[in-house]
Amino acid sequence: MDNRPVGMFDSGVGGLSVLRAFRDITPEEDVVYLADTAWFPYGPRPAAEVRKRSFALTRRLLESNVKLIVVACNTASAAAISDLRKAFPVPFVGMVPGVKPAALRSRSGRVVILATEGTFDGELYARVVDEFARGTTVTAVTGTGLAALVEAGQAGTARARETLERLLGPQVKAGADTVVLGCTHYHFLAADIAALFPGVEIIDTSEAVARRSAQVLEETEMRAEPGRSGALNLIVTGDRDAFEAAMQRLGFEHTVMEATR
Ligand code: DGL
Repeated sequence: MDNRPVGMFDSGVGGLSVLRAFRDITPEEDVVYLADTAWFPYGPRPAAEVRKRSFALTRRLLESNVKLIVVACNTASAAAISDLRKAFPVPFVGMVPGVKPAALRSRSGRVVILATEGTFDGELYARVVDEFARGTTVTAVTGTGLAALVEAGQAGTARARETLERLLGPQVKAGADTVVLGCTHYHFLAADIAALFPGVEIIDTSEAVARRSAQVLEETEMRAEPGRSGALNLIVTGDRDAFEAAMQRLGFEHTVMEATR
């Protein structure tokens, strides 16, 4: 039994997709969610910069005595997860673009991966495509501007749909039947994608990552006491009020129980 919190970080609201799934599965766990909005967006930054920042955020989470860190950001996972694992004594769970389920599920053999520049530049992406997508046509589409729309509370708006239509429309017309959400922010655009492209399958790995995190706690005998009600502690590096407003728009109004700068 281990009631220390689980740490999670992202450049902003994206990782809340993983947080929500994780809290549904393990409501007894305390979570410290670190939203690095002062550094948003990560996508266009050089990998070395994202790696350095990920190290700093990890140190900050360790100050909060976390027992496991979930890198709830594809870009940071691509830039840093293997180095984080080597450098720190806690277990890490990270995001991997859902290329494998996409290749297995696609009937047309054409899939689109929607992610940031940083995720496509990393070797993790190249590795999963090489390993799991033989015989499948995989098109990498950089979601320029999409994470910023979500961060600004514009999921579900005409502007979000226009941007998605421009980015994904040509691929769907060309026969793609599966879209992988390769950035945690894009979870909040799934309804827009489904409305624009009926029949297209959307692959979102946030729930799988939440399940994997719970499994790691189980395997390492670090589960919190059953029956307790886990607290959520929020750390925001940028404007805290703006972040809480963004959280509320995404339906997280009653979850912030403690505040830390
Ligand atoms: N949420 C981050 C990801 O999963 C990216 C957003 C950003 O560019 O900061 O890749």
